[in-house]
Amino acid sequence: MRRKMAAGNWKMNGLRSSLDELEALAGAHPDPACDVLICPPATLLALAADRCAGTAIRVGGQTCHMNVEGPHTGDISAQMLRDVGANAVILGHSERRADHEESSEDVRMLAQMAQAAGLQTIICVGESQFQREATNTLDIIGAQLSLSIPDSSTGENLVVAYEPIWAIGTGQVPTSDQIGEVHDFIRARLEQRFGFGVGKSVRLLYGGSVKAANAQEIFDISNVDGALVGGASLSAKDFSPIIAALE
Ligand code: G3P
Repeated sequence: MRRKMAAGNWKMNGLRSSLDELEALAGAHPDPACDVLICPPATLLALAADRCAGTAIRVGGQTCHMNVEGPHTGDISAQMLRDVGANAVILGHSERRADHEESSEDVRMLAQMAQAAGLQTIICVGESQFQREATNTLDIIGAQLSLSIPDSSTGENLVVAYEPIWAIGTGQVPTSDQIGEVHDFIRARLEQRFGFGVGKSVRLLYGGSVKAANAQEIFDISNVDGALVGGASLSAKDFSPIIAALE
């Protein structure tokens, strides 16, 4: 069946000294029974890839540009991520959608570029508090899925992360029923669009205030294949029990 996945999104956190956490993590999980991915800031990516060489930890980017190269000051292409050793990239995180006005159509283009460059794409979807209270959650998620995910997606190059915006960094976690409802919905949509085989093989991660204390309960929910973790991925001490809960 689907291999579980623990992905850490360091966001705009981490200096070179933070790379010691990767060594501690690799030491604690020399042969993990799940995929382990760390997405540090771009400044640390090449160094992180070097530190993780020969370990079970893969590294990824937090976004990429829709062009291969050119006059785009400050931006980074999917090829550049690949070049420094990234295997994956997070796309369409709600913080990118909010801070950089990335639309779902933009996310789809970035994902096309990233998949063409050989990166696994972790495409994020999620509703705001307001949208949930207005009982629009599934409509919002449905639209984000159909607009953000490119046709080039496969069971290997696509991972979908459900991250309710109101749960990110707040300590507020949806109920198991709420998470289960959205994950079952995402699975059904993927099966409808890509066929049963591909739809069944895409990993679905939950993200939003995942901690050691709630990880097991979240991983027991149907169609939850792992987590995309922010704050608790910054230290080996906090991330390691989350990986262990998937093993
Ligand atoms: O991408 C991970 C994320 O947005 C969740 O962050 O800090 O709530 O685990 P956090």
